[in-house]
Formats: sequence, C-alpha cells, structure tokens
Amino acid sequence: MEKVSDEYDRQKEVKAFDEARTGVKGIVDSGSKTVPRMFIRPKDELSKEHEIPCVDDLQIPVISLQGIDNKDVCDEIVKQVLYASEKWGFFQVVDHGIPFQVLEKMLQGNKMFHELDVEVKKVFYSRDLMKSVSYGVNYDLYNSRVANWRDTVAIVNSYPGFFDPSDIPKLCRDAMMDYIEQILKLSDILLELLSMGLGLEPSYLKEEMECNKGWYLVNHYYPPCPAPELTLATSKHSDPAFLTILLQDQIGGLQVLYENQWVNVNPIPDAFVVNIGDILQMISNDKLKSTYHRVTANLVGPRISTAFFLEGDQSSTKLYRPIKELVSEDHPCAYKDFTLRDFDTQFRNRPLNVPTFDLLKLENHAIVD
Ligand code: OGA
Ligand code: NI
Repeated sequence: MEKVSDEYDRQKEVKAFDEARTGVKGIVDSGSKTVPRMFIRPKDELSKEHEIPCVDDLQIPVISLQGIDNKDVCDEIVKQVLYASEKWGFFQVVDHGIPFQVLEKMLQGNKMFHELDVEVKKVFYSRDLMKSVSYGVNYDLYNSRVANWRDTVAIVNSYPGFFDPSDIPKLCRDAMMDYIEQILKLSDILLELLSMGLGLEPSYLKEEMECNKGWYLVNHYYPPCPAPELTLATSKHSDPAFLTILLQDQIGGLQVLYENQWVNVNPIPDAFVVNIGDILQMISNDKLKSTYHRVTANLVGPRISTAFFLEGDQSSTKLYRPIKELVSEDHPCAYKDFTLRDFDTQFRNRPLNVPTFDLLKLENHAIVD
C-alpha cells in the first residue's frame, strides 16, 4: 500500500517539474537549499553504493594523436586505441589538432543556451526527441526511479538533412556549428583508427557501417547540488551509440566502471573523452567494450559537458549484426540482427540505467553466416 502512495506522489512531483519547464536550473535559481524527493536515490540503492569503491590511483588511457600522419606513429596509435577500447571502452584524446578556441566557445555556447532568459528558453522545451533542437530534462523522467540532477539541450541529426542549423538560437549558433564541423573530422579519424585496430579496411566503419551518417549532440548543464550524496547528475548507463566523443569542463564528476570500481575521468584541458557505445560493442561481436559510466553530483557548478554520439542513419533499413570478420568458431556471433531504429526505440522506452543491448544478445551465441 505504502508503495502505491509513494508512486502516486512521485508522479505528481514529476509532472509539476515537467510542466514548470524550468529544469533543475530552475530549482536552484529559486533559491532552494534542498534536493526535491524525485531526485533522491532510494535507500536500497544508496546502501549498495558502498559495495563499489571509488579509486583515485587509476586513470583511463590518454592517447596523443601527435604525428598521426607518419605511418609508424599511426600504427602505434592504432594499438593504443585498440587496447583502450578492448580493456576500458574509454580513453582521452589529446593533440587532436582542433583549436582550443573551438572547444572553449562550444562550452560557452552550451552554457549560454541554458542561461537564456527563462521565457525564451521555455519555448525550446520539449519531450519530443525527434526535434532538431530542444531543451529538456531527463528524457526518461516518467520511466525512471530517480531523476538526474541535470538539464540538457539536444541537437539532433538522426539522418542526413534532419537538422536545421537555424533552429539553434543565434547567440550560440556559430560556436556550435564550428564545433560540429570539427568533431565530424575527428570522428572520421577515430573511426579509421578503430577500423584498423579491428583488422578491417580503414574506411570500414565509416563507409560500410555508416557510423557517422547520423548524430546526436547533447549539451548537459549540471547545476550545483545542495546535497550531492543523495542524488546523481547522470545515473549509471552505457551509451546507445557507435561512439561517443565528449567535451567536459574542468570540474569533473564523470566516472567509469572498471573492474568493479568507479574510476574518475580527470579533466584534462582541451582533451576529448571517447567511449565505445553499445552498437560498436555489438557489431564488434563484444571485442570492443561499451562501459558503464555515471556522473556524480557536485556542490559546485554548473558543470558543463557536451556529448557527441555517432548514431548512424536512423532512417536506414540496413540490418546490423556482428561483422563477419570478427565472428569465428572461438567467437560465435553474439547478437541478433537489428536496425538502428529498432535499437533506438528499445533504448528510449527504458530508463537510462537499464541497458538495452542485452536484449539483442543471442542466448547460445550460434554462428551465423
Ligand atoms: C552521456 C554522458 C557524461 C558527462 O551524455 O551519455 O555520459 O560527463 N555524459 O556529461
Ligand atoms: Ni554516457
């Protein structure tokens, strides 16, 4: 009985929060010094927390792209990328050649959007994930047990031509467009490095798998939190994409689950955090790892981060399955065929912290041709 009334109250609180259209930032701006109940993690979840330690003496691999045009250097980078992607599913990229002003302006542009006048920003508020540009809170607000302490502005290009740059407010449009242009070039490089690491033609992931035909850019804004130990800024999840390229400011809070420990992704100025998403894990037949990660809430803020997800063309009818070169008697095919749209729909219908790619796992890993 108690549970039912709890649930009822929660829905009411969630609805009021949604209808206010002012996000988590709105709560903080109202002067509230407490965390509303819908953001508070249940006791059972918090007590389990102690079973997973946070460690300070480990760091995800940091890979420099300096000298990548030299063949020997490139071979070495490929090895590092493969190692990081198999073992960690995460790495940081430095010396990527993208001017730091482009990164600075992107983070500023992200912040400016979230700090628009409330009435102007409300117009962008939407729960429709298929809008080219929208501002929102927790896409899984009505499905999840606990809400995340963050607001998000999404810029979506689900298939070529979907996104209309003029939908971005003028004050941050150029910054975001310059960033997108550069990040698409960096994705080409990363896809080549990963293809080579997998023993495939350098163009394989881009041309055959069409990994960068569609993308999704999310601008997170994590307001300061009065009681960070009670909630999370982003709950534990893996990314429903081929690949994620993340730019974060210097505050920190992102953690990666590695050998059952939370490892901090320490911010490095001008670095990108790159991680393998669920789809790349699936088509690599589990060779590359889509790793769980989360963001802890913080007393200080706002923390700003921008994640660029390579999601492929969502309108394509192409069937995806583990790449045949990566399927063998020793490594039988581990996943069923799927379209990117099916996968995405399954993801959207589940809370962020419930993984989707396991739904496509073949039970007995039969070899298919
Ligand atoms: C994400 C994510 C991490 C961050 O958007 O999927 O994991 O640091 N973001 O904001
Ligand atoms: Ni993520």
